[in-house]
Amino acid sequence: MTPNESKLVTELAPIIQRQLPQGLFLCVGGGTPNTMTIGWGSVGIFWGRPVFTVPVRPQRFTFPLIQKARSFIVGIPEEGGLLEERKRAGTWSGRDGDKFQRLGFETAKGRVVDAPAIKACRYQIECVVKVVVDLTDGNTSPDIVSAMYPARDFHTLFMGEVVACYETER
Ligand SMILES: Cc1cc2nc3c(=O)[nH]c(=O)nc-3n(C[C@H](O)[C@H](O)[C@H](O)COP(=O)(O)O)c2cc1C
Repeated sequence: MTPNESKLVTELAPIIQRQLPQGLFLCVGGGTPNTMTIGWGSVGIFWGRPVFTVPVRPQRFTFPLIQKARSFIVGIPEEGGLLEERKRAGTWSGRDGDKFQRLGFETAKGRVVDAPAIKACRYQIECVVKVVVDLTDGNTSPDIVSAMYPARDFHTLFMGEVVACYETER
């Protein structure tokens, strides 16, 4: 990453935090590229480098894709933009057809990772997965388990080192 890209990751942190409740686009490549909405996540520092952590439930079509690809791109829309698309990408499944096409999204190739970047998003954060953490009854506080996982449908956390961060060329 260039110093400008590192600076942009830091500048995007509060924007990411503000936008997560409406969702960001998690894009994964491989044989069947797909996108899904994430409403949780964080950008921070681990091992002296910027890391974006995304939570994905095993039932998602995206799950085996990200496990295999071990990389992803997070697309960040303009604030207040693409609200319908964020809902649809968080309701429709890639099992039922090409979600990019159904959403009317043009994509570009990732600059570093093999994943699609949604051109309609203002910023792209490309990541390479370094650590995968399965939340379980054993490692999750009981209050979180009863509030968030009564059906024991725990998330898996994919911690991706940020390898590129840029404003989308239009
Ligand atoms: C606002 C919003 C936030 C969401 N956040 C997450 C999330 O953080 N992790 C997750 O696994 N699913 C989350 N979902 C649900 C998935 O986006 C949804 O199940 C999607 O249809 C999965 O697509 P796929 O089957 O193509 O992978 C969210 C949905 C919405 C609408």
